[in-house]
Amino acid sequence: MDFPFSLIQSLRAAQRIVALTGAGISAESGLATFRDAQTGLWSKFKPEELATPDAFRRNPKLVSDWYAWRRGESLKAEPNAGHCALVEMEKRAPQFLLVTQNVDGLHARAGSRRLIELHGNLHRFRCFENNCASDNFDVENGRCRSCGGNLRPDIVWFGEMLPADGLESAVAAAEKCDVFFSIGTSSVVYPAADLWRRAKEGDAIVIEINKDPTPLTLLADHSFLGKASEILPALVEQIYVHQNRGAQ
Ligand code: OAD
Repeated sequence: MDFPFSLIQSLRAAQRIVALTGAGISAESGLATFRDAQTGLWSKFKPEELATPDAFRRNPKLVSDWYAWRRGESLKAEPNAGHCALVEMEKRAPQFLLVTQNVDGLHARAGSRRLIELHGNLHRFRCFENNCASDNFDVENGRCRSCGGNLRPDIVWFGEMLPADGLESAVAAAEKCDVFFSIGTSSVVYPAADLWRRAKEGDAIVIEINKDPTPLTLLADHSFLGKASEILPALVEQIYVHQNRGAQ
């Protein structure tokens, strides 16, 4: 796979790299995306019945069962070469931050440590009724032991605010970075879809890696159409491994 040499040089020189990922990076681990026609979760399920606080209030069992199914799917899945390439980038780049919209936990399982999970994590829970601070939870029966209320997955639903500290850190990093990657995301869900603009305003190089064109494709400095699990490892190899070979 060929990348412009000027881009490889910029990546080698970059002090601060931020990468934003979406469901596309986990697609080759076998997890469904949201908006892919035919296979995306939102082509089969209605978000208003499964991914809002009202939906949970109306039918906590239906919603909990759906997330239990997704939790099971993500536990069966393994991180792929795309996740691992981002771990490598974190190790090699002077400063690196990974911001993900994914709730599947695969980035952490791959070994990413400088990680913000903007939309939460399927594998964590919180108290739905009273947002009890204790985590005295009966996960098996979906109950908060402190107040007896229902437990919900610790993720962001439609109509809810993102965790303020995570969003603030992501925005601050995007504003200051030299290179911003947008990987496997349809770039239509805000505020994540706005991060690349913050980076661009700060003169960062914006690079998109996605299987299909998105609203960002024509606006990015570099757009690579294809699978994240193929493009990312090839790019990381050219940035870091070839550089070391050149120095030997
Ligand atoms: P989407 O399903 O909207 O977009 C996934 C993108 O990944 C699409 O543009 C695909 O073309 C691309 N894609 C698929 N397979 C790929 C591959 N192997 N390599 C590279 N790209 C690939 O998912 P997100 O952008 O993550 O929110 O969706 C954003 C948010 O919308 C999600 O976090 C979720 C959803 O509603 C919440 O649950 C709060």
